[in-house]
Amino acid sequence: MCGIVGYVGQRAAEDVIIDGLRRLEYRGYDSAGIALFNEQELFVEKHAGRLSVLEGYLSANPHRDARLGIGHTRWATHGAPNDVNAHPHTGCTPRFAVVHNGIIENYNELRRELMARGHRFVTETDTEVLPHLLEEVYAGDLATAVFEVVAKLRGAYALAVVTSEDPNTVIAYRQDSPLIIGLGQGENFLASDIPALLPYTRQTVVLDDGDLAVLRSSGVSFYREGKEIEKDIFTVTWDEVAAEKAGFDHFMLKEIHEQPKALRDTLSGRILEQGTNLAEEIGLTSDMIKGINRVVVVACGTAYHAGLVGKTLIERLARIHVEVDYASEFRYRQPVLNPNDLVIIISQSGETADTLAALREAKRQGCTVVAITNVVGSSVSREGQHVLHTWAGPEIAVASTKAYTTQLAALTLMAIELGLGRKTLKVTRAQELLRGLREIPLQVGEIIAQAEKIKAVAEHVAKSEHVFFIGRGLDFNVALEGALKLKEISYIHAEAYAAGELKHGTLALITAGTPVICLFTQAELQEKMVSNVEVVRARGGYTVSISSCCADVTGTISDVEIRLPETDPLLAPMLSVVPLQLLAYYAAVTRGADVDKPRNLAKSVTVE
Ligand code: F6R
Repeated sequence: MCGIVGYVGQRAAEDVIIDGLRRLEYRGYDSAGIALFNEQELFVEKHAGRLSVLEGYLSANPHRDARLGIGHTRWATHGAPNDVNAHPHTGCTPRFAVVHNGIIENYNELRRELMARGHRFVTETDTEVLPHLLEEVYAGDLATAVFEVVAKLRGAYALAVVTSEDPNTVIAYRQDSPLIIGLGQGENFLASDIPALLPYTRQTVVLDDGDLAVLRSSGVSFYREGKEIEKDIFTVTWDEVAAEKAGFDHFMLKEIHEQPKALRDTLSGRILEQGTNLAEEIGLTSDMIKGINRVVVVACGTAYHAGLVGKTLIERLARIHVEVDYASEFRYRQPVLNPNDLVIIISQSGETADTLAALREAKRQGCTVVAITNVVGSSVSREGQHVLHTWAGPEIAVASTKAYTTQLAALTLMAIELGLGRKTLKVTRAQELLRGLREIPLQVGEIIAQAEKIKAVAEHVAKSEHVFFIGRGLDFNVALEGALKLKEISYIHAEAYAAGELKHGTLALITAGTPVICLFTQAELQEKMVSNVEVVRARGGYTVSISSCCADVTGTISDVEIRLPETDPLLAPMLSVVPLQLLAYYAAVTRGADVDKPRNLAKSVTVE
């Protein structure tokens, strides 16, 4: 979950590393540190707090002659986020400096053994075993020493290592945590994610598990199991501006506004006259589609909420039974799968540890696995057998927005393709849905244009400590996502309820003025939904309806009504979630919360 950056070349290493860490702050931001080498000494500076704290120390005490170094932003796992536990870590002597992302599972055992041999530990981290192990095995070649050390480790980790014994070399090693190498002219880079590299190079190499890279200014060599190997170079096509705020106050707002484009990009080239070309794109044969016995969707958080919508779409259009599971639950309950199950893995980052483990379990049990991910070259994208990329572009804000809507677009295409392939969906109905789908990007833009109205609702909601979201069917699935958005960035307690369930207990919490956000996009459920909202109003609830149907009633039973453009009820989630994203955003801004970096959270969850 932490961010790693490394550099060797002709520039002041501290500039490149701090700049890269800033672009990776979404991965963790409770402390930051840097190790710089200037051919005489290895200098380490690390501090609790945001990157700006470290920057402050560096500007007072610069090491601009250092041309090599590594840096880290932390999201604490072992040990509190304080100066001592911040990375880089050194051993008994300042000969080695190590930054690490992931968890070393057997660190306790290693630590005990090292202490018994006289090593002194100063931190509570799992990482600190690494420089101590390096002190024991180093015999003149850092790459060999790193190979020897990793052979003793269990867990998931990405490492960058430097030593005062070799002023020209940075070593990178990957095991189950992402690490990318950037190739330059007379300089080379490493980072946990591509945005950190973009100002410097587009030529990248994605390390695989077990790969070690030796970075020098003159070039990078790659090794696996001690032997040199060739790696493919991957040219990044999205530009640097795409990874920056482009004039918006926050990445989240920018990413909400990017949804029309993200949706267009995700749909583009995939819609045909009479269906979609998805099966061909991802390599699903017609026999595979016909032979599916059950679909199991596995994901976490927002991606899980997208999976819930996917369940309804696939069940309605392809008439296949679908189960949706939290990845963190799936992997430990010895799931019963069979080779005729289609497992759909959804992950924006493609690096979520539980989701990746679920993918591996499904493959192990012989299922066909379709991976829906936004990050090309991510672990999920590389390990998925049939990969369906969403083209949302980099999502930097911790709260997911454009990734969710593009996941819904991908799942809609998938449901249509499965329905057509199994002949449960008529071509004319598929065409109707595809026509509707083509309209969605424009309609999302129309909703964003109502931002001021949503902002006024948000200012009211921001005064409350409890907010409820209700809906039926697909609206309930979207309500879950709306509640998650509000809690994670505004810290307001929010709950989503299937509207019909309220009266079975939760209604007791509705008192005068309690905001209840009511979703009305499923015309066939309109009457039932209206009765549920009436019950809320009778208790004095402040009702906000988000509606694309039922125009004759929603206005009369709501304190505020936000109208959505008309669309097919099956496509409505891509629209109805947008006001909920904006509501959460403006409520968080009104409460002065740090929207892009909510407390306790990080973007890429690479721990279990
Ligand atoms: C919430 C959010 C998280 C992620 C979850 C899965 O806004 O972003 O709930 O959806 O951590 O992440 P990915 O999709 O990267 O696997």
